[in-house]
Amino acid sequence: MTTTQSTGTRAPQRPVKASADELIDVAFTVNGTPVSVQVPARMHLADALRTNLGLSGTHLGCEHGVCGMCTVLIDGDAARACLVFAVQAEGTEVVTVEGLGTQESQHPLQQAFSHHHALQCGFCTPGFLMSSYDLLANGDGEVSPETLPEEMSGVICRCTGYRGILAAVADVAETHPDGIPEPMNCAPRTLVGRGGAAHASGGAPAGSPEDAVEQEPTELIRPTGTPTITVEVTRQLASPVEDVWAVMDDIDRLARCLPGAEMTADLGGDRYRGRAKVALGPVRLKFDGLAQITERDPGDHTLALIAQGADTGGNRTAADIVLRATPGDDGTVLVAEAKVFLSGRIAQFGRALAGDVSQRMFEQFADAVDRTARTGTAPEVGAGPSALRIGLQAVGAGLRRRAALVVSAIRDRRRRRQES
Ligand code: FES
Ligand code: FES
Repeated sequence: MTTTQSTGTRAPQRPVKASADELIDVAFTVNGTPVSVQVPARMHLADALRTNLGLSGTHLGCEHGVCGMCTVLIDGDAARACLVFAVQAEGTEVVTVEGLGTQESQHPLQQAFSHHHALQCGFCTPGFLMSSYDLLANGDGEVSPETLPEEMSGVICRCTGYRGILAAVADVAETHPDGIPEPMNCAPRTLVGRGGAAHASGGAPAGSPEDAVEQEPTELIRPTGTPTITVEVTRQLASPVEDVWAVMDDIDRLARCLPGAEMTADLGGDRYRGRAKVALGPVRLKFDGLAQITERDPGDHTLALIAQGADTGGNRTAADIVLRATPGDDGTVLVAEAKVFLSGRIAQFGRALAGDVSQRMFEQFADAVDRTARTGTAPEVGAGPSALRIGLQAVGAGLRRRAALVVSAIRDRRRRRQES
């Protein structure tokens, strides 16, 4: 099929030929973040946003251009993302519902939808928000009760009866006669989705996980945006804090304490190349990547680092980690905080399981730091705890927890039935 491709944002487009199953690089801006994704020629923009970039606020209903659920702004105009090929977004500026506002700082349209109870199940709400933004931003700013129903008829709602929706839009039009505020949540951030071929990092391509592996080492950038999971582990260690800090301050020994991790090169400037094996149940992954110490405070016994890695199967990970050791009653309290960003197959395991595995890894890491601080000897490379075992233990723990929840729900239901 024929599609278009350019070398960068706003670059002149040129026709290229691509077969339907060929992956094509597409660069555009979404919610203020320059992104580049690799997509099949026939993937539509909504799938690229949801799968490759993790922006699941754009909903899909009919995928035929009828229901309007998938409405986004492309270069300021409303468009149905299910009718636009992702490759057609090359060089454009896309705004999705995530760019409109945040939970803490809502756009007036979002506030009005909430105030007027303009949603029930909420499935159509992103489409209505983006469609009404287009109406108020690109129209003449005036709406009338006679014309508004027709103007909003491009999005279908199966729940609310539309009254609240129309009232919300009319309310915002009335309170903002000089024009509604622009989307309020458009700023560079890290976006990761499940597609594995996507990456966005605030227009600084040098910081992407794939670049960390494929290009000459460079300064890594701190991943931003909403992490896939956050982990906080507090562990009581028997060793005195100075001994623990001696391990934390020695990156070679520290790396050996991390299950499945291995440092392969010291690149200078507190940057290191390494690899790590991770297992989620039966799936074994091997990441190559870079890590960089961003803060080293011997007074506070605090070490901060960022790490990024990728495997050959399209899985990518980035982490922003802070380790802090403080003197405890009987040794040291080690706190590890990590924001973990995942994309590719591993992201499909879900937050709960990935969180379980990360938690378990950090617990074993803390125990290994304690042993190393006491004995002065770090685990041999490759002799650390088995990443596979960690994965299976976490799977077991996760399943047990979920099974316990189901059993307790069934018991509750039975009890309520007997009581009534
Ligand atoms: S999903 Fe795009 S219009 Fe229905
Ligand atoms: S609120 Fe449920 S479809 Fe509109």
